[in-house]
Amino acid sequence: MRYASTVSRLEHLGSAKWAIHIAGKRRAANGEKLIFLSIGEPDLPPPMAIIDVADRQMRAGRLRYSAGRGDLSVREGLASYYTRQTGRDISADQFLFLPGTQAALASTMMAILEPGDEVLLLDPYYATYEAVVTAPGGVPVPVPLDPDRGFHPDIAAIEKAVTSRTKAILLNSPSNPTGAVFTAAENRAIGEIAKKHDLWIVSDEVYASMIHGNHVFHSPFCEKDLEERTIVVSSISKSHALPGFRCGWVAGSAEFCNHLLPVTETQLFGSQPFLEDATAFALTTHFDETDAMKNAYLARARVLMEGVKGAKGVTTHLPEGGMFLMLDVRGTGLTGEAFARRLLDEEDVVTMPGESFGARGAGHLRVALTVDEATMAEAARRITRLAGRL
Ligand SMILES: Cc1ncc(COP(=O)(O)O)c(C=O)c1O
Repeated sequence: MRYASTVSRLEHLGSAKWAIHIAGKRRAANGEKLIFLSIGEPDLPPPMAIIDVADRQMRAGRLRYSAGRGDLSVREGLASYYTRQTGRDISADQFLFLPGTQAALASTMMAILEPGDEVLLLDPYYATYEAVVTAPGGVPVPVPLDPDRGFHPDIAAIEKAVTSRTKAILLNSPSNPTGAVFTAAENRAIGEIAKKHDLWIVSDEVYASMIHGNHVFHSPFCEKDLEERTIVVSSISKSHALPGFRCGWVAGSAEFCNHLLPVTETQLFGSQPFLEDATAFALTTHFDETDAMKNAYLARARVLMEGVKGAKGVTTHLPEGGMFLMLDVRGTGLTGEAFARRLLDEEDVVTMPGESFGARGAGHLRVALTVDEATMAEAARRITRLAGRL
């Protein structure tokens, strides 16, 4: 049968990145015990009060079709959350409630890209970004981030990468995989480039609630003069440990949301009202559990850092935000890919090679901070043992 070129464009952007994780899963399915540090899936339970709301609302009959944008109640919850975050009046017509950040990213790219349009990706970048840009015919253009500067943006390199075909810059702070949290000054400088060249800023803020130490979260959406060109995509998958709910959204201008609606309606006929209610509750309530999750990720990062201090050729720094830590293994002489493969084969520890996140991830491993401290300490011992043999 004949397929669209979309299929062949996407064919090689998927599973190769996950080869080591998939090999680990295969061994685990045969009963072997491995330590999985490969997937960004929260391991701690979500706040049960959110589940209770979903359950109650489901039983109360919130099971009918919702409005295409998501019901007003959840969009009002989002408006109050973003009004608090930005310090400006953000209205309910600036949101579409969608099944997760990934869906929000994909539909956003469909709404803003013509075939051949370029999107700047700060490299290393989240593993699905090439695909969401490529699907509607866009061209991902990696802009290198410097590991020795904590993977913070190089404003001059971004400006240099802009061409007449550039349509958007895709940002992700706190970053998966790097853990960098962009400063307000960095976002403003990127914003100046976007204004000068009339670019969209797509800001993936799925880790916004996980900021460590003295770092401060800032979004380009907080800047009044960037509001019309900024599209925020996010969800409660990570913040509230509820990836299976598939509760996400876009935030942007009312005009953008109006244009996006017919695009999302080609795939979705509204969302799940009982989960909308649970999301509105999640966004307008403080939970000790979410603080505990964030603290747990940081504590585990410290354990790992401490544990690999003696590992030959391995260096690292604490993440500024999010739930990942990058191990720099360039000093071992191995690529990230080769180190991760040997770590799996010889020490039963499953990580993601930095190369899965773009050329600038080379020579690194991305470690998901999703196991308890004792397991993380054991993983650190095994990493140190492997490095000692190289
Ligand atoms: C940077 C980033 N964006 C988006 C997603 C997808 O999130 P969601 O579950 O909201 O679709 C993830 C999940 O790992 C992620 O790390």
